Amino acid sequence: MLSYRHGFHAGNHADVFKHLVLTLLVRPLLNKEKPFFYLDTHAAAGRYDLGSAMARKNREYETGIGPLWKVKAAPEAVRDYFETVRAINSGDKLRFYPGSPRVVRHFLRPGDRMALSELHPNEVKVLGDEFAGDKQVKIHHLDGYQALKALLPPAERRGLVLIDPAFELRDERRRLLDAVKEAYRRWATGIFAVWYPIQDRATADDLLRRFKKSGIRNILAAEFKVLPDDEPLRLNGSGMIVINPPWRLDQQLNDLLPWLWEQLAIEKQGAWRVEWLVPE
Ligand SMILES: C[S@@+](CC[C@H](N)C(=O)[O-])C[C@H]1O[C@@H](n2cnc3c(N)ncnc32)[C@H](O)[C@@H]1O
Repeated sequence: MLSYRHGFHAGNHADVFKHLVLTLLVRPLLNKEKPFFYLDTHAAAGRYDLGSAMARKNREYETGIGPLWKVKAAPEAVRDYFETVRAINSGDKLRFYPGSPRVVRHFLRPGDRMALSELHPNEVKVLGDEFAGDKQVKIHHLDGYQALKALLPPAERRGLVLIDPAFELRDERRRLLDAVKEAYRRWATGIFAVWYPIQDRATADDLLRRFKKSGIRNILAAEFKVLPDDEPLRLNGSGMIVINPPWRLDQQLNDLLPWLWEQLAIEKQGAWRVEWLVPE
């Protein structure tokens, strides 16, 4: 059952939060000359046209990149993120929104490489077209959890994995945690970032509890919500669980998320938080 299409949601508040955090994870990897590896287990299409029928159906980008794009003065830490959006648009007009593969591709140096796995046949085709001829990008029509097994640890021994499932399956959380535990066993020094939706508090807390009990160390979690936790049937916010976060990511997020919340919270609802689930 692969009914989820990211094009309906591209550029919404959850995408903005996820991609902003992604840029904060990539930036420190550029501090050393040694090449790094990026794996995106649930890559989707890579680029979205905000003028398409899909994007315009619910106009979710109006809760995210739409208003943010108009902000004149933004903190320094947002610069990389804005640059990734600007890079696929012309001038100041916002027409396209980058998916996570495009966001990270923006930063790859000639020796770095990325692997993208995507299971949906249409999405993987669009992704292939997006990166056609790009020798630093390898696309796999493969289950994301299998990709973790097949592609880790990378030869580079440094890098980042984004796990961003659609959460369509009943047992997604169990599969996710089993796969992360196994991947961590193979590559305990990799950075792993897991995105999760917040539709109700209990389900989000259940995932956090599973990570706390996982035996994995050095786990930071951050959440960003534009509505109260339990607004029925809505995506009230989202979170990122980061294993082996870069130094001072907690501080950066504590500085940045209040600003983001000021920009995107709907009628001053929602909240943000940064929490160590497991210390180093
Ligand atoms: C939330 S979207 C990913 C968005 C993307 N990471 C981004 O930020 O631009 C989830 C994607 O996972 C795909 N998918 C669903 N189950 C999958 C699986 N088992 N393995 C790989 N991809 C899967 C869906 O088709 C969808 O395109």
